Amino acid sequence: MPDIGFVNGRFMPLGEATVSLEDRGYQFGDGIYEVLRSYQGTFFQLEAHLARLERSAKAIELQSPYTPAEWMAHVAEGIRLGQYAESKVYLQITRGVAPRDHLFPAAAIPTAVMTVREMRPLDSSLRARGVAAVTLPDLRWGRCDIKTINLLPNVLARQRAKAAGAFEAILIRGDELTEGAVSNVMVVVGGVVATPPEGPHILPGVTRSVVLDLARKAGVPVQERRLTLRELQNADEMFLTGTTVEILSVVQLDGAKVGTGSPGPLTLLLNDRFKAALP
Ligand code: PDD
Repeated sequence: MPDIGFVNGRFMPLGEATVSLEDRGYQFGDGIYEVLRSYQGTFFQLEAHLARLERSAKAIELQSPYTPAEWMAHVAEGIRLGQYAESKVYLQITRGVAPRDHLFPAAAIPTAVMTVREMRPLDSSLRARGVAAVTLPDLRWGRCDIKTINLLPNVLARQRAKAAGAFEAILIRGDELTEGAVSNVMVVVGGVVATPPEGPHILPGVTRSVVLDLARKAGVPVQERRLTLRELQNADEMFLTGTTVEILSVVQLDGAKVGTGSPGPLTLLLNDRFKAALP
């Protein structure tokens, strides 16, 4: 099969997969999602992604139609059908199909969809050189810890970053770092890896947590604390973490060099450890 679609328990070629115009995901953004990937047919942190899916569902009072074990079976079937060496899997649950009304429908059945596509790695020279980022105001709501499908502020921020010639938008609330439009952000200051703490203003990233563990195991001091824009501007190193970006060095912020302007030693060390921890 080519790219795979899945709608409420049925697999089909992606081009044939459809949902109703009255799906609440489409009309209200009333849903949640996950993005996960496999390396050589083995999932990376599948349990953690499925646990976060459950948590997001609970947070919006949505009952997932599948248990994590059932999701696991569907996801495994999806990558078996896709037959890609490395797959990118998107899972989404919405509050189902009902006539448009803000109130929860009394009897709607949640819509569960999945897509399986080939995971194309980021350009290796981009990864080796590092990327540019721009800072933008964080215009999102007060529960960014829930992975909802309401991504308009992220979409606009990432587009503005691209228009400015940058790879990622780094979001600032007040004068504090929250995260990237599609990633978490870490900095190195004086040999310490620092990143904002979990809370309502950031997504508790699966990759973030893996990288913090790897840093602690490597004996690198870690701080989960508030970081100001000024601290970002003066950081020795900066990198993004996320399922799609893995660990990606940021070497330019708002047009100015970060550190030496090349990926720094702790970023490279953590990147090596991360590669070694992959399936
Ligand atoms: N994004 N912060 C935001 C706002 C994100 O959208 C993501 C992931 C992350 C990193 O989380 P994780 O390490 O669990 O992938 C942080 C996915 C990949 C996306 O929306 O495409």
